[in-house]
Amino acid sequence: MKIMARRHKTRLKKEALRVACFLLLVGIFSAGVCFASLGSKKCSECHTMHRSQNNQVMSEWGDDGPYAALLVTDCAGCHTGANVSGGMPYVLSSIEPLYGQTGTEGGTNTLAGGSFHWVTNALGDRKGHNIVGVASPDTTLLTPPGFTGSTTAIDNSSPGGGSWPAGTQVTCAGTYGCHGTHSENLETNAIRGGHHSGMDGAIISASSESAKSYRMLIGVVGYEDPEWELTPTATAHNQYKGSDQSTDKSTISALCGRCHGDFHRQTGNGDVWTLHPVDYDMSHAAIGTEYRQYGGGTNQYQVAVPVASNQVNLPLSNVMQGGDSIITCISCHRAHGSPYEKLLRWDYAGSSGAGCVYCHTSKS
Ligand code: HEC
Ligand code: HEC
Ligand code: HEC
Ligand code: HEC
Ligand code: HEC
Repeated sequence: MKIMARRHKTRLKKEALRVACFLLLVGIFSAGVCFASLGSKKCSECHTMHRSQNNQVMSEWGDDGPYAALLVTDCAGCHTGANVSGGMPYVLSSIEPLYGQTGTEGGTNTLAGGSFHWVTNALGDRKGHNIVGVASPDTTLLTPPGFTGSTTAIDNSSPGGGSWPAGTQVTCAGTYGCHGTHSENLETNAIRGGHHSGMDGAIISASSESAKSYRMLIGVVGYEDPEWELTPTATAHNQYKGSDQSTDKSTISALCGRCHGDFHRQTGNGDVWTLHPVDYDMSHAAIGTEYRQYGGGTNQYQVAVPVASNQVNLPLSNVMQGGDSIITCISCHRAHGSPYEKLLRWDYAGSSGAGCVYCHTSKS
């Protein structure tokens, strides 16, 4: 694939970044900016001023430029590679990422969103979002299933401005994308400032700026694991925002609901559900019932089947205290893609109840 040939050398050094920030604080630099996200990397690793060196375009700058914001490549160009500890977040690779059963076992190297690797392969159509420039268009789904075009609360933008012309592919960012604002068509504009934000850890209030939004997802809040869940444990993981039976638009499920709105509704009918619950707190279930056994006797947070919470200032290691055991779209799905049908976190089509029984504990 052509994108694979592009440069993806970028590496992050968190330690270097802390030193840089420290030096900044003691006044060695006079600029009032701390590049907390990008560490001590040189501007020239990511930007080119004229896209010319000795009257030539350098080979590692890729064939498709020039790129917006004077960048040397595009989103996929930088975010393609194999994840390693201390590295930057890669969401696509030519070599199959190590996923194991659920993508959370030791030795796996996928991040929280999964990977677009599988959707780029033959028969992979249903294993990921078919992003422009990464995968060919989905042959079956011409629009997002359940599209209602809901808006973000914070900047009132909605994917496609509320309509999705058949055959339009999803993009990383922008009008038809997930990251940044939907009110900007150009991807780089949509996330403007996000990479130079220095945000890490807890983002607790909704913002219309990429820099102040969870993973540059406008209006979404959450706790950002510094390793994007390369090696998640019960104590070190993303803490997703959920909201019990509400219309709160800062939740991770509301993000999916912007394109798949019909699936983000509460449709219980008496005691029987007609749609799997999402943004529903399992701590409501009576003590002793099966849902209360999520994570066993101590209700330990399960990285394989994450639950969300009202409060996102810290990753929770034990749940079921109330407001902290909320089902989300990504309790079952990966946002980018997985080795399984319908971007599921585990092999539902193959081994059936594998992940379902983390909550439906009496059905194992
Ligand atoms: C690791 C890659 C990387 C490095 C290193 C880097 N940038 Fe950027 N920069 C980006 C990306 C990606 C964008 C566009 C997306 C965004 O704004 O988040 C960007 C956007 C910008 C923008 C436009 C958006 C804004 O916030 O105004 C400016 C200006 C900028 N960079 C300046 C610099 C300077 C100056 C340096 C060196 C001190 C530098 N960058 C180093 C990746 C980098
Ligand atoms: C020039 C290289 C480069 C380009 C181009 C680039 N990124 Fe990044 N991106 C990075 C690096 C490096 C990081 C890691 C920064 C950090 O550690 O927080 C990053 C981090 C991210 C993150 C995670 C932020 C977080 O909260 O942890 C997202 C989301 C992201 N990029 C999206 C995009 C999108 C969307 C585009 C295209 C519009 C893009 N990137 C283009 C280099 C790049
Ligand atoms: C900006 C719009 C948009 C957002 C936001 C979005 N999706 Fe999608 N989704 C689509 C489109 C378009 C398709 C159909 C084409 C494709 O697969 O890319 C799709 C397809 C899917 C499919 C079926 C894949 C297949 O090919 O059978 C699943 C599952 C899915 N999305 C889950 C999610 C989840 C979970 C989230 C939130 C993390 C989410 N989506 C957010 C646009 C979106
Ligand atoms: C309890 C697990 C679970 C949760 C929670 C869940 N899904 Fe799904 N989803 C599935 C399964 C399993 C499938 C495969 C088809 C089926 O069994 O209905 C699926 C299929 C889909 C599809 C493809 C539909 C089609 O027509 O091909 C989309 C899109 C989707 N889910 C989006 C979402 C969104 C958005 C949310 C949150 C609002 C969500 N899912 C929450 C398990 C879940
Ligand atoms: C994150 C926890 C969680 C996961 C994962 C999960 N469920 Fe559920 N599921 C629930 C909860 C909680 C309810 C609603 C219980 C209630 O209202 O008492 C529910 C409801 C249901 C119902 C309707 C039951 C009724 O009484 O109407 C079915 C069927 C179901 N789930 C099947 C599945 C399947 C199949 C999977 C795997 C694809 C799955 N669930 C994954 C937590 C989960």
